[in-house]
Amino acid sequence: MTTTRTLPQAFRRLRRSEGLRALVRETRLSPADFVYPLFVAHGQGLRREIESMPGQYQLSVDQLAAEAEELRSLGIPAMLLFGLPAAKDEAGSEAYDPDGIVQRAVRALKRAAPDLVVITDVCLCEYTSHGHCGVVVDGPDGQAEVDNDRTLPLLARIVLSHAEAGADIVAPSDMMDGRVAAIRTALDEADFGHTPIMAYAAKQASAFYGPFRVAAESAPQFGDRRGYQMDAANAREAMREIEADIEEGADIVMVKPALPNLDIIARARQRFELPLAAYNVSGEYAMVKAAALAGHLDERSAALEVLTAIKRAGADIVITYHAKDAARWLRE
Ligand code: PBG
Repeated sequence: MTTTRTLPQAFRRLRRSEGLRALVRETRLSPADFVYPLFVAHGQGLRREIESMPGQYQLSVDQLAAEAEELRSLGIPAMLLFGLPAAKDEAGSEAYDPDGIVQRAVRALKRAAPDLVVITDVCLCEYTSHGHCGVVVDGPDGQAEVDNDRTLPLLARIVLSHAEAGADIVAPSDMMDGRVAAIRTALDEADFGHTPIMAYAAKQASAFYGPFRVAAESAPQFGDRRGYQMDAANAREAMREIEADIEEGADIVMVKPALPNLDIIARARQRFELPLAAYNVSGEYAMVKAAALAGHLDERSAALEVLTAIKRAGADIVITYHAKDAARWLRE
């Protein structure tokens, strides 16, 4: 007669050495998972460190070839571009200017590094004088608000200008209703049926975008974004947002911010079969960085722990300011 020993279970047996731990590791982080966000500004030889995000820079277009080469050497396949316009106006017109900052950056990058996947963030907030993600009008109650349907044609215009410049993927982050359908139609009608859309699908109104708004100079000049971005309390609504973007033609869906939304990432992973991206946003980067600079935690292990958790929750693609550091740490 055989006896089977069930208790106590021995978990520690496989934790005794790094070799054993590596053998049974369930989630493996790789530089191939990362997308690196970048802020592009007008000028020459510009490399201005962003105060709210130590280690991140606003770069001029001439700096991008070197940046692309660095990403290639680190095995990071993609970059997400944000632009700082020369001037802001009510309509955010530089956002769709064929010679705007992002359009120039895309052309330079595709020339210098054709294999790098260039993703462009599609939004108006960096370009409008009021800092909102759409067209501001007087609402029914006399309060200024962002008009959904008047914003859609502008988003379509931005997207076409990015596609014409050579963007590999366009990523609308504005959170207007119906924008994926509007953008898909515009792309298809202009012979850009091959250009994929990565939709910021479940994007919450989050305090964690604070450092980004310093970096991109895009803080709203009045009010906030709660009239269009999601309420962080709502998980079922997040599923409906993702579902709607998929029905409208999204090719990749995104959850943002990542760390406060690991449950949403896990639910989306179970429910949808599309590639799933998660954005480890500026505030998540800044809080690890600030604590590390103050000597309160070890940046390397904290950042890798966060990124691993985001992947473990179910993200296929992790957009992170820690991409270059993490790629180096993973190689060591
Ligand atoms: C533009 C946009 C924002 C972010 C990405 N695209 C800011 C916002 O919605 O206010 C945030 C990214 C980050 O915090 O790293 N709408």
